[in-house]
Amino acid sequence: MEDQRVLSGGAGAEERFEEQSLRPQTLSQYIGQEQVKQNLSIFIEAALKREETLDHVLLYGPPGLGKTTMAAVIANEMGAGFRTTSGPAIERPGDLAAVLTALSPGDVLFIDEIHRLPRSIEEVLYPAMEDFCLDIVIGKGPEARSVRLDLPPFTLIGATTRAGSLSAPLRDRFGVHSRLEYYTPDQLREVVLRTADILGTAIDVEGAGELARRSRGTPRIANRLLKRVRDYAEVRGEGYVTIQKANEALELLQVDRLGLDHIDHKLLNTILNRFKGGPVGLDTLAASIGEESATIEDVYEPYLLQIGFLQRTPRGRIALPAAYEHFGMEVPAP
Ligand SMILES: Nc1ncnc2c1ncn2[C@@H]1O[C@H](COP(=O)(O)OP(=O)(O)OP(=O)(O)O)[C@@H](O)[C@H]1O
Ligand SMILES: [Mg+2]
Repeated sequence: MEDQRVLSGGAGAEERFEEQSLRPQTLSQYIGQEQVKQNLSIFIEAALKREETLDHVLLYGPPGLGKTTMAAVIANEMGAGFRTTSGPAIERPGDLAAVLTALSPGDVLFIDEIHRLPRSIEEVLYPAMEDFCLDIVIGKGPEARSVRLDLPPFTLIGATTRAGSLSAPLRDRFGVHSRLEYYTPDQLREVVLRTADILGTAIDVEGAGELARRSRGTPRIANRLLKRVRDYAEVRGEGYVTIQKANEALELLQVDRLGLDHIDHKLLNTILNRFKGGPVGLDTLAASIGEESATIEDVYEPYLLQIGFLQRTPRGRIALPAAYEHFGMEVPAP
């Protein structure tokens, strides 16, 4: 369901492949996230000067903001090898041991969705992160003994959409915590223009700006909308993306002027009408619109919170005045 949505921050399989060519390679090509980039560039320079590996880095933030891209950029800036795996791919301690023992000195190991690592495997990771060693148990029963294996020094970069679901001991072992923020429309316009350039799509600045405003602060969505709008402009025009073509195409895609789609509308309308603006509990809301609570929390809600449409309170979600106004409803008196 989620991946069929034109505005989903998540990536489809084909998209994941295409994204490789669109990824910036260096910090200077990486648009936005100025704070994160500034900090990282200092840590990277210092590590290079000391000829040491960079401290372990935890990247967190909603889907599609550039965590994987940033991890690859860091490896590239360090002149290090880049190995990737993900939380769900590591099922047994042996899987992680295999990944760790295959590392070369200085490598960056990227673990995507690190919050999905089972606790028993996290424990293998602790000594690896702290002392670059691995405690493995050989044999079974009374014969079993523990052996300590040395690992090459490496940098672990973990990515997660939910920093809160990481266990505290794991979180604490990352020296650098970087939170990626939603992009501003100006930054996204730059992303759109850059991608258009790579794809060879003709687009004007106003057209790019319109896409940027409707991309929910998310580069992956900006790139996706650009491709859909390019298709539209090729079929219904000369292939040139103007603001008019962008508007027409986005209307067909049912993306409204703030970048909200039918699922956002359903969610907001449920709170506004059925629950009289809230508060409504997350699980109740999830059941009413037929989505999972976790999906609402990780995927739909963050942007609605960001633009001031919703608020999370201990009693549940409430709609804020901006949400009423967006649907032309009267804001209730406080
Ligand atoms: N700062 C940026 N400048 C230009 N393009 C970017 C930037 N950040 C991300 N992108 C583009 O957005 C797409 C998605 O980025 P990326 O895959 O790194 O996101 P992610 O945060 O890892 O998402 P997920 O949580 O789904 O893994 C990439 O194709 C990349 O080209
Ligand atoms: Mg990613």
